[in-house]
Amino acid sequence: MPNAKRWVEPDPRRENWFWPTEELKARAWAADEKVYEESWADPIRFWEERAKEISWFKRWDKAYHDEPLAYKWFVGGKLNLSYNSLDRHVEAGKGDKVALIWEPEPPNEPNRVFTYKELLAEVSRLANALKELGVKKGDRVGIYLPMIPEAVIAMQAVVRIGAVHSVVFSAFSPESLRDRMVDCGAKVLITADGYYRRGKAITLKQNADKGVEGTKVERVIVVRRAGLDVPMDPSRDVWYHEIVPKQSPECPPEEMDAEDLAFILYTSGTTGKPKGVMHTTGGYAVQVYTTCKWNFNLHEDDIFWCTADVGWITGHSYINYGPLMNGVTTVVYEGAPDTPDYGRMWAVIQKHKVTAYYTAPTAIRMHVKWGEEWPAKYDLSSLRVLGTVGEPINEEAWLWYFKHIGGGRCPIIDTWWQTETGANCVQALPGIGPFIPTVAGRPFPGIRAKILDAGGQPVQPGEGGYLVLEPPFPPSLLRGLWGDPEKFKATYFSEYGPGYYFTRDGARMDEMGNIRITGRVDDVMNVAGHRLATAEVEDALSQHEAVSEVAVVSRPDEVKGEVPVAFVLLKAGYTASEELKKELVKTVDKHIGPTARPAEIYFVDDVPKTRSGKIMRRVLKSLVRGAPPGDITTLRNPECVEQLKSIVGSGG
Ligand code: WT7
Repeated sequence: MPNAKRWVEPDPRRENWFWPTEELKARAWAADEKVYEESWADPIRFWEERAKEISWFKRWDKAYHDEPLAYKWFVGGKLNLSYNSLDRHVEAGKGDKVALIWEPEPPNEPNRVFTYKELLAEVSRLANALKELGVKKGDRVGIYLPMIPEAVIAMQAVVRIGAVHSVVFSAFSPESLRDRMVDCGAKVLITADGYYRRGKAITLKQNADKGVEGTKVERVIVVRRAGLDVPMDPSRDVWYHEIVPKQSPECPPEEMDAEDLAFILYTSGTTGKPKGVMHTTGGYAVQVYTTCKWNFNLHEDDIFWCTADVGWITGHSYINYGPLMNGVTTVVYEGAPDTPDYGRMWAVIQKHKVTAYYTAPTAIRMHVKWGEEWPAKYDLSSLRVLGTVGEPINEEAWLWYFKHIGGGRCPIIDTWWQTETGANCVQALPGIGPFIPTVAGRPFPGIRAKILDAGGQPVQPGEGGYLVLEPPFPPSLLRGLWGDPEKFKATYFSEYGPGYYFTRDGARMDEMGNIRITGRVDDVMNVAGHRLATAEVEDALSQHEAVSEVAVVSRPDEVKGEVPVAFVLLKAGYTASEELKKELVKTVDKHIGPTARPAEIYFVDDVPKTRSGKIMRRVLKSLVRGAPPGDITTLRNPECVEQLKSIVGSGG
């Protein structure tokens, strides 16, 4: 790569530490350490300065309202997310710039490319179609779409008219879709006939049909993607291509209050039922815009590719709103990373000259397995910055990514955040560094974070503790859980009170303030970057008629990070068999989706319990890790531990 610029250099004193080169510093939005101290001393001022970079119909009256459990940002300000993503660039004369490139999975199928002007027109047409179907400000609209341009168009159209989207991952089961649609009370759903995955056309419409049964969904808009023959209910369903093209390409954006709800996104908590995380308009816009710009060092000529699915917060913030608010080009890829071969991702980077690439550690570990010969076939010299997100990244994967994808030239920005935080919160800034494997970095400017012990005292540098965020809370931090204020308080503001947001992650900080995330401290797993509660998998399994009791714990996995492992007690009259295992896996597919499939199902006679009858998952967790079970003297049934040990040890 003779012409490729060098953006980082190694630290001569510390192995595997890297710093930005002068070249990168000159290009970065922040290159001076001072930004940290200054912004942490006065976060409100920092965020107000950033907020001035986006477009407001009316400036805010008060930047931050500090009230326990009712914090607000940019109070009284009026804006629209879609206006900020599209209109403002068109009005600035950038209408002909490419906003979105869609890469379909079949490699011989042409790209679909939208300029900002074209995207604005299409979003406006869909927005008008939604209005025609009766959608009004504040109404919820479900989106159950694969990775096609319409997924971005749909989110944009919904927020354009002040409605609230709730996107559901297209690989989720009809039942998961139904739960979410019922909970948020959506009246319209946008879906598709199907999509391509690993060379096959997968149907989606039939799942959508099952998913809207028994909900308040009155109308369903169906995008034709895969040309599949799907049933249409004429009183409810309408083809996208029949209702959208005839609409006016102009639709004035609704003036939203900064604290008006923008979207609800469901995510796994510690209980069986996913929670609807609520994000409002102003704070979300400002933090997503700023973190996307600073962390990925975005400029006019950047081509940004985030490989997440639009069904996750990463897709919301860094495929859709972040890159578009910054006026760069966003890449949307439909398919699998191994189709037609293991080089697909690198072929796409080469083809579209991607400059910023954002993916998950689990994906990197898969590429490590497939081998470095795959990226070696492609010209990746367009890359300037690499990002990772979703789970702690191990050193081997980090170094592989750095060397074989970044050519040893590009910083790796390991971004820690959550569905709840809406946008990146902890990472190293490209122009400042340092970039260290397994260490995310410092809190973003204007974000205050601490590591506390269980009693609420700050821990010493290097010591493990719990990561919390302090007020003024990040502008894009969730404002609540849909329909469940009690749960909002209990989940995030009970351990340390309303003065700290509890992230539920373990972490350590070094002397310099760099944070290393060690992982969840609750019963939430991270399976190939997908967030999943052990309780959700338990709920799914227990719906099978043969199951009397079940305990699910996570087990570390080389590629996926973690995988669920299930301990199942059968009802009288049922016997353990491979057949039954398969049925149980099907049950999980049906209730949640294939992402939640247990890697192992053990049929057992008993699981460890406390005297009050609570399953001691801690003991099971140790067993599947081959670790000593710890203190079992308080168990009601300590004798079962030996039996479990031998079952787990023999592999079931
Ligand atoms: C959990 C949140 C944020 C978008 C994707 C995941 C883990 C996230 C990192 C990172 C270590 C990370 C945490 C967090 N996590 N990013 N860079 N290093 N862990 O969002 O599904 O809401 O999951 O993902 O455990 O709590 P999510």
